[in-house]
Amino acid sequence: MPPSPRLRALALAALGAAALAAAPAPAAAAGPIVIRFSHVVAVDTPKGQAAEHVRRRVAELTGGRARVEVFPNGTGYKDQEEIQALQLGAVDLLAPSLSKFGQLGLREFEAFDLPFLFDDEAALRRVTEGPVGRELLRRLDQKGIVGLAFWDSGFKSFSANRPLRSPEDFRGLRMRIQASGVIDAQMRALGALPQVLPFPSVFQALQAGVVDGTENPISNFWTQGMNRVQRHLTLTRHGYLGYVVIANRRFWDGLPRDVRAALEQALGEATALANRLARERAEADLEAVRRAGTTEVHVPTPAERRRFVQALRPVHQAMADRIGRDLLRDIYAATGFDPTAP
Ligand code: LMR
Repeated sequence: MPPSPRLRALALAALGAAALAAAPAPAAAAGPIVIRFSHVVAVDTPKGQAAEHVRRRVAELTGGRARVEVFPNGTGYKDQEEIQALQLGAVDLLAPSLSKFGQLGLREFEAFDLPFLFDDEAALRRVTEGPVGRELLRRLDQKGIVGLAFWDSGFKSFSANRPLRSPEDFRGLRMRIQASGVIDAQMRALGALPQVLPFPSVFQALQAGVVDGTENPISNFWTQGMNRVQRHLTLTRHGYLGYVVIANRRFWDGLPRDVRAALEQALGEATALANRLARERAEADLEAVRRAGTTEVHVPTPAERRRFVQALRPVHQAMADRIGRDLLRDIYAATGFDPTAP
């Protein structure tokens, strides 16, 4: 059973450092080792399916010695709360979006939110699978977190209840964002009013008119039913949404070696699955949105796209100190993006 909101609050309140120090390491516990994996999206998404894969494979590979319990859709913890829960040891595995690490003090992860940074998946991989990706995972150590893998969700597009053909169309729109300074700056550069909301609340906020629009990879847009409350979707693919799979360091180090090896293997397989599904679902879910007929899908013309790029390029300069200029230089070298182009 997923923890109730009350239990969640209690767990977070009760699990202080002292309690944590006294908690048994997983290896010492009797019965199967339970690995709790919480996430905020639907089961039928790249992340949801990858988490299910980890659950199945860990059971197989360990012959039942370890069991992964998955809490999807924010039924375990939501957004920022989940990282705090991981640090406290109330949950063992997470895959938060890269955008959510800035709040932990690791603002360099927000580099992935920079608009139009990646032309395609190959440019992205040069970052995540190269020295920058390794360095970012290493920086999680200082927070008591082990960074295990990058998983894709996909490229994001904007939606609202009015057509979004040019930057001017965003003026005054209240746009839901993740808690990222870079995404905040991106929305402000378009003249919109960014509003941070946890992911599991977005559908209701759109339905109630608390916010007017948002941005998502298509799989999140579709599986949350946002097509029922957003009449316009513009396929800008202006930004990337991806995840870091993370574990509590103490939990990870306390796992018996063979169980840790099984988990590593399952995660390796799940990485390939998540990334393949991210590609496939981008197309299949877009087709589903089109078929549903509730949202008009607009593909920007090259001239429209250029105007978005021009409007959002200054966000790179404005955010350079927040992210770190040295790191950004390395990222631009890998992706080929030129923040100074006219
Ligand atoms: C969001 O908050 O929009 C995303 O991070 C949700 C997710 O995990 O894909």
